[in-house]
Amino acid sequence: MRYHEVIVVGGGLAGLRAAVETANELDTAIITQVPPVRSHSGAAQGGVNAPMGNNPEGKDDSVEKHTFDTVKGSDFLADQKSAEVMISEATPSIYEIEHWGCPFSRTSEGKIAQRPFGGAGFPRTCFAADKTGLYMLHTLWEKSIALNIRTYEEMFVTDLVVENGKVVGVVALNIVTGDFEPFMAEAVIFGTGGAGQVYGRSTNALISSGSGQAIAYRRGVPIKDMEFIQFHPTSLFGTNILMTEGCRGEGGYLINNQGERFMTKYAPKAMELGPRDIVARAIQTEINEGRGFEGGYVHLDLRHLGKEKILERLPGIRDIAINFAGVDPILQPIPIQPGQHYTMGGIDTDVNGATKIGGFFAAGECACVSVHGANRLGGNSLLDTVVFGKLSGRHAKEYVKQLKDRRRGESAISSALEEQEMVREELLTRSGGENHSVIRDEMKAIMIENVGIFREGPPMQEALDTVIALKERYKEIRIMNKGRKYNLDYLRAYELGGMLDLAHIIALGAIKREESRGSHFRRDFPKRDDKKFLKHTLATISKDGPKISYSDVDISMYEPVERKY
Ligand code: FUM
Repeated sequence: MRYHEVIVVGGGLAGLRAAVETANELDTAIITQVPPVRSHSGAAQGGVNAPMGNNPEGKDDSVEKHTFDTVKGSDFLADQKSAEVMISEATPSIYEIEHWGCPFSRTSEGKIAQRPFGGAGFPRTCFAADKTGLYMLHTLWEKSIALNIRTYEEMFVTDLVVENGKVVGVVALNIVTGDFEPFMAEAVIFGTGGAGQVYGRSTNALISSGSGQAIAYRRGVPIKDMEFIQFHPTSLFGTNILMTEGCRGEGGYLINNQGERFMTKYAPKAMELGPRDIVARAIQTEINEGRGFEGGYVHLDLRHLGKEKILERLPGIRDIAINFAGVDPILQPIPIQPGQHYTMGGIDTDVNGATKIGGFFAAGECACVSVHGANRLGGNSLLDTVVFGKLSGRHAKEYVKQLKDRRRGESAISSALEEQEMVREELLTRSGGENHSVIRDEMKAIMIENVGIFREGPPMQEALDTVIALKERYKEIRIMNKGRKYNLDYLRAYELGGMLDLAHIIALGAIKREESRGSHFRRDFPKRDDKKFLKHTLATISKDGPKISYSDVDISMYEPVERKY
């Protein structure tokens, strides 16, 4: 049986950063379903926040101001001390990755350049043109190679093995051979990404299916605040490819079919740089009230920025707009609509990435510390990956170093492997008439329509009932490809089971939260209700489906106030 002291699941930014942290002292391996440089982190465009003050307009920025913006942006659901930890670590974490070779864009003095982003009082988003995630990913991947970290690619982890409350390893499906493979480990860190594919109209890659959250849930770890789904205001109409907030940070306008910069009505001070929840609702309102263009979009206009600035700061955006929408932003406005972008919720962890299972840690989008609360600020997710990747790695290392017994759980891992083989056998021999792709599409459609930007009790109840019915229909699927090798038909069908669990958790949590907060906007409860709902939602597995409970939010630094932008 393969053995590593630390196994990191996921080769994106959070996973790589965690592995880099443990690998200097412990035997560390990464297991990832795609090669690390194909991870969804590479799709992050606009930048990573830190209160460096490199932009003259940001010279008065500070950890305190960035923390307050983050907490206010979160609609006061972020745990305030945790947010402060993330932001205190921001500047050193970004210099660290810069020193490892990340080619950030520069000011005329040679400092890391910073642009304005939504919900931020100062320009604090460090960027590498409009491919920041990709450059950070390549930098960390090269670092992992320099450290000789073993990477198992095209392996899909299907189970976390736990014995006596402590993690002892994982089981992974080798996608190429079709074999399940056992791995023994002292600590496991999930950096498995978000669950955007539960929704239609998502900016997320196909691999963002929430597989890590689904495994943790099935192993009894609570899933926190999952009803908070972020919609990015500007995704390309038709394909929903991200059009970075950096477009607006560089000065882009949002324009309706009357030629108006409509943000004057919704965020008169911040305008296009309001927080994402407010800007996404503004755009959707314009579209819903007939001030959008045919089909349902508004314009993101960059023309006034000029060719030189667009080519220097937003070259990737221009390429995508030309290739996927046939418009050149130098000459024409870009058609955009809000698209599902981020899951604020996830695996319940503390500020060290630790979960309720000994030796099991999570970081990045799959985790919920919580630092983003009900609405994440743009540029804080890349920050989350590098800071909490590092901290979860650091604490996993401490955990492993104090362990007395090593190489535990061999028979538990073997049993888990047999169970995974049985699960596959059972799924492959189901002979009902249901097509799993159809079930997936129906789930995505009802989630985006009924548990989307604007929410209300009865449509959400309809979504929940539909998801429960889809779970029943899932029992009747028939997988056409019965083979073992590279069977993506099986893999997609398998992961759909977990996605349906997550859809169930999202819809149930959203129905029970009878207030509006951040990304969770209810027409039937349009006000925030701190008395009843200044609480984190925890969804825990039971034989009757998810059970919802609540836990306290840390508000030890700032009193919640009404947000104005
Ligand atoms: O708009 C963007 O570039 C996305 C950034 C983020 O989600 O943090």
